[in-house]
Amino acid sequence: NKVVMAYSGGLDTSVAIKWLQDKYDVEVVTYSADVGQNEPLAPVKKKALETGAVEAYVADLKEEFLTEYAFKGLKAGAIYEDKYPLTTAYSRPLIAKKMIEVAKKEGADAVAHGCTGKGNDQVRFDVSFQALSPGIEIVAPLREWEFGSRTEQIDYAQEKGIPVGATKESPYSIDRNMLGVSIECGVLEDPACEPPAEAYQITTAPEQAPDKAEYVEVGFKNGDPVTLNGVELDPVSLVNQLNEKATKHGVGRIDMVENRLVGIKSREIYEVPAYTVLLKAHSGLEDLVLDRETAHYKQSVADKYAELVYYGQWFSPLKEALDAFVKQTQQYVNGTVKVKLYKGSCTVVGRESDNSLYQENLATYEKSDTFSHEAAEGFIELFGLPLKVNGKVHNN
Ligand code: ARG
Ligand code: SIN
Repeated sequence: NKVVMAYSGGLDTSVAIKWLQDKYDVEVVTYSADVGQNEPLAPVKKKALETGAVEAYVADLKEEFLTEYAFKGLKAGAIYEDKYPLTTAYSRPLIAKKMIEVAKKEGADAVAHGCTGKGNDQVRFDVSFQALSPGIEIVAPLREWEFGSRTEQIDYAQEKGIPVGATKESPYSIDRNMLGVSIECGVLEDPACEPPAEAYQITTAPEQAPDKAEYVEVGFKNGDPVTLNGVELDPVSLVNQLNEKATKHGVGRIDMVENRLVGIKSREIYEVPAYTVLLKAHSGLEDLVLDRETAHYKQSVADKYAELVYYGQWFSPLKEALDAFVKQTQQYVNGTVKVKLYKGSCTVVGRESDNSLYQENLATYEKSDTFSHEAAEGFIELFGLPLKVNGKVHNN
């Protein structure tokens, strides 16, 4: 029997390799993805094999992560509870999909991951596994095992000869990828307490950011970001370069209390530098090119889309249908947006598009105005008619 396990190289998943072997007498194949967490995978692979994996897969998924997941959410405008841009959430269905591919290739009948039993990530993995390979067995060692504390895990690791890294342990639980960092636990568990400076992992504190604003120009094609300051870039380079700028200016810090799918509220902080800029820029361009009704309707789609992503429903018929709607709306989302980065803020200050619906002669208050003022009078007369009637009947 064989199981394919998502492997990060950390203590939890290293202990899980041995634990799976002991408890279920299975061969463990590990799967580790590079989604831009900024950790080389070669040592992770080496450690997996040293810890007893029969095979250790590593894969660079950065581009696919952006184009097939994060940019779809960008075009949808998805933001969970108006704050969280779903940065961790997008990586789970992708990794799950790849693991199922490996399981088929390896003839494995089970998959495993190192998520806890309290979070959203376990749901995202498990639901994706079920959707893509309905019969597969799912094991979540952290939901099952008997270790009561970190110390017990370390004792077990030492007893089993698992290399326990000398890296000092962070007081926080951290998940990182190209889009940013999700941080929880430790002092953050008190929602009344401001996050200490060191809780943030990558962004400059806005107070310490440069006194001089920096402008960036993002170019979009069919809603996808394709240029940065006039230079055409592949998605990974574009996000990396934009991350550098946004990080320096302290852009993309989020502090929130969110509703997890499993029913609990949790206080989390996030750093989402480039992707925050992209979301704002994209929306700034849509303001120019989408007609009013599509724009308004699309906001409700964005909310639903965010919920589906957060809830791990990536491989669902509804999510696919919403993608089709979003795609249709993106045909005119071409153009450039100028964004100002300054001490933690990120503001759209200019937008241009060949598909712009903005008509200066209609909008202007100057002499060149061609808007029909007489028509406005008649329009308001009829538009207000129901309320006029209502007023006559009820307010007199
Ligand atoms: N609460 C966020 C989410 O549900 C972040 C999760 C971070 N995951 C983690 N394993 N630390 O997407
Ligand atoms: C976890 O690591 O499982 C907790 C975080 C989450 O999934 O929300």
